[in-house]
Amino acid sequence: MYEVLTPVSEMLSRNLDTLCHQPLLVCGLLEDDLPGLLAEHGPAPRVFTTDFRYFQWLSTRNGVKPEFGALPASEPAAGLLLLMPKAKAEAEYLLAACLPLLSPGAPVFMAGDNKGGVKAAPRLLAPWCEQVNKLDSARRASLYQAELSRPAPQLQAGNWVHRYALAKERLTVCTLPGVFSADHLDAGTQLLLDNAGVLHGRVLDFGCGAGVIGASLLQRNPDIELEQIDINALALEASRLTLAENGLQAKVYASDGLDQVQGRFDCIISNPPFHAGLKTFYRTTETLLREARNYLRPGGSLLLVANAFLPYPELIEQHFGRCDTLAANGRFKIYRAQA
Ligand SMILES: C[S@@+](CC[C@H](N)C(=O)[O-])C[C@H]1O[C@@H](n2cnc3c(N)ncnc32)[C@H](O)[C@@H]1O
Repeated sequence: MYEVLTPVSEMLSRNLDTLCHQPLLVCGLLEDDLPGLLAEHGPAPRVFTTDFRYFQWLSTRNGVKPEFGALPASEPAAGLLLLMPKAKAEAEYLLAACLPLLSPGAPVFMAGDNKGGVKAAPRLLAPWCEQVNKLDSARRASLYQAELSRPAPQLQAGNWVHRYALAKERLTVCTLPGVFSADHLDAGTQLLLDNAGVLHGRVLDFGCGAGVIGASLLQRNPDIELEQIDINALALEASRLTLAENGLQAKVYASDGLDQVQGRFDCIISNPPFHAGLKTFYRTTETLLREARNYLRPGGSLLLVANAFLPYPELIEQHFGRCDTLAANGRFKIYRAQA
């Protein structure tokens, strides 16, 4: 899945002498075996990832022991390589989380696809590094190099939490950089909540993001036993914060699809991941539709919101025998399937 080097890593492979001068802490948008490439040419890097799927994949490789979570471990690092994540706010967060581990004078590298926001590197690094140089540019990717000018203060987690109120749901949602629906409720999620009805028993919030679906369901159905899963460590942290902020309780844990989920549920509910052009995101939802039945108790239901044009009803019918459309507007449809 992560076997082929990305164009960004191909560009980095021209700079291994500079990069491998010291063991680097590597974080951000990791999509290939760049850590293996660095380890082949110099000291093994330390990898910090917020992506549970990548963490699991890298854990099976020799030589590199990845860290998964919302923050890296507090051990010092000799240098940093940040691969530009999709959201600029996440890049700012990762810099604030990782730079305190470096001593002044340590090298800081930022790399990424030219269309993925890496050109913002000089601005993003400006608070910490007096000079930022562009070291290389090839394969439509760029590498920036800087030096930490002064000690970076410890990240204050609370400063990164953004809150917004949902009056209708009587909830305060807490989000973190890069987490889905950062400052308002997604219209599809709202339609799903409007049609969720009364729930009971064990409920799974699949791809919980900031935890808004599960928290709303708990507000309305205080007796349900809720589990919330996501692949993204910042989403999981945001979900925990949303629960705590509203005095709610649930089991929140990392899972790639249903892989880490145990037992059967009375309801699996989701606004599942979907991103045009990235086939892994289709695959996650398709796998959910294929496997959900095995995770439902008899009579239990799968409740889903999806963009109206996606061919999910056919897939649901294929695996459940029947798919009901509970609601629809111009953009979204709510589907229900029963085990
Ligand atoms: C469309 S967002 C929905 C977030 C939240 N439930 C809401 O409605 O606001 C989909 C979520 O699925 C998560 N996700 C993506 N791939 C996943 C996977 N393989 N396993 C579990 N969660 C995944 C994403 O991190 C994201 O938080």
